[in-house]
Amino acid sequence: MAKTFELETLKIRLNDADFRLLTLHQRIQRALRALIVDGALGPGVKLPATRALAASLGVARDTVENAYVQLHRDGFIERRKGSGSYVSGTVGAELRGAARRRLKLQEDGHAATAPGAGLSRRGRLILESGGVADQRVIKAFATGLPETRTFPTEVWERLQRQALKDYRGNVLLHGDPQGAEPLRKAIAVYLNLERGAKVSPEQILVLSSTRQSLFLCAQLLVDAGKPILMENPGYFGARKSFESAEARVVPIDVDAQGVRTDLLRADRSGAACIYVTPSHQYPTGATLSLERRLELIGWAAEQGKWLIEDDYDSEFHYDGLPTACVQGLDKYRRTIYLGTFSKTLYPGLRMAYMAVPRELVSAFVYARSIMDGHTPQILQLTLARFMEDGHYNAHVRAMRKLYAGRREAMLAAIGRHLGGIVRASRPEGGLQIPCFLEPGWTEEATIRQAAGAGVQLLGMSRLYLGPEARPGWLLGYAHLTAHEIETAMARLASALRRN
Ligand SMILES: Cc1ncc(COP(=O)(O)O)c(C=O)c1O
Repeated sequence: MAKTFELETLKIRLNDADFRLLTLHQRIQRALRALIVDGALGPGVKLPATRALAASLGVARDTVENAYVQLHRDGFIERRKGSGSYVSGTVGAELRGAARRRLKLQEDGHAATAPGAGLSRRGRLILESGGVADQRVIKAFATGLPETRTFPTEVWERLQRQALKDYRGNVLLHGDPQGAEPLRKAIAVYLNLERGAKVSPEQILVLSSTRQSLFLCAQLLVDAGKPILMENPGYFGARKSFESAEARVVPIDVDAQGVRTDLLRADRSGAACIYVTPSHQYPTGATLSLERRLELIGWAAEQGKWLIEDDYDSEFHYDGLPTACVQGLDKYRRTIYLGTFSKTLYPGLRMAYMAVPRELVSAFVYARSIMDGHTPQILQLTLARFMEDGHYNAHVRAMRKLYAGRREAMLAAIGRHLGGIVRASRPEGGLQIPCFLEPGWTEEATIRQAAGAGVQLLGMSRLYLGPEARPGWLLGYAHLTAHEIETAMARLASALRRN
């Protein structure tokens, strides 16, 4: 620790990039404070008189005086009448003590800067298993992305202006944690008419994403260390939410008809709920047969389990009408329905919803209020108008037509370029196509080679729980024009064949 003040050390600190935007006296004050905190200026060190320091730095005396006043007020320096300004002894002692304690920890091998140090067990679990990466730079063939270039931004802007004008008194204040009433009403009408659900606005919660819905389900329905059932293969984001709540995820295999309800009946894990994607199984694309839907409902009713139905992209069904959701068939009210606007509108919107059985509403609303309060009011009210005025259904219809054409373009491009490399099944809907690798091709190598050619492939293996994974990729196409699909596919094929 320095015993005397060194002008050069202060000058170096004054040029610190962190202080660039501050006023001159703030910079001097921050620089001196940093020197004291770092121990470069020890307790009792005398600071230069304000006039002398001002002259050395070429600034007005008042500037230095203001810096000293602030340091004094914060307790970093003492100002003794007739004697001068000194680094405070008490602050110095406290800082020295903290430094000693830190040093000791480091010597003992508990360096406070090690990743994960100071985290809870749950915090460490999250750190070690990582987050869910979102697509920020759009690449072929990223999954789950809708076309955003055709979104009717002018209509949205007009409705947002209207909502701001009409709800001016409320929209800037806090809103209902359950969601704005007009939006909950619009969602309930939509679900009952379009998805065959049986819900009322009182059962709807407006949230920021399906992931938030899943996080809440994990918090409220599963105790730490207890099991939750999940389709295998299944949605990575769901698994992450459950695991981060310290739930034990138990896989239930999927076949061509969706989740295997025979395995469900045989399950003895004691799990209180199951996560399923009945309309369009993620990632295989299977539609859960009616027989299995009824079995699923019967199982939940008889055994008092919860069904978490993730209906993430059911709006995009291209061959005939989509099957009605499980929630509408479930007369025993064991289903928690999840929907999202990430696919039907745009993912940056961050809006989704749940329809929960009445007895669960309060718990979910309380948990949501603790988590983040509510979704931005202005967005909710704009979306309510967008739905009430028919723009939502019109947009979904237009996108359904667009994506149906792109699905054909994608299947044709796969046939043209990837023969002998993958086998693709024709999905009835959704924004992506599952492809399985032919013998002789490995998932890891193909993903690496594709990345080298600027093409993003989501490997199937990471979507399986357990070692028995069928190697392949899930290819997103909805955000790409036919021309973009063709170019990227040709690039992918040549990268794979070259290697
Ligand atoms: C099965 C499934 N559910 C939910 C979501 C995500 O929805 P959100 O963006 O609302 O979290 C996705 C996104 O890819 C998904 O694949």
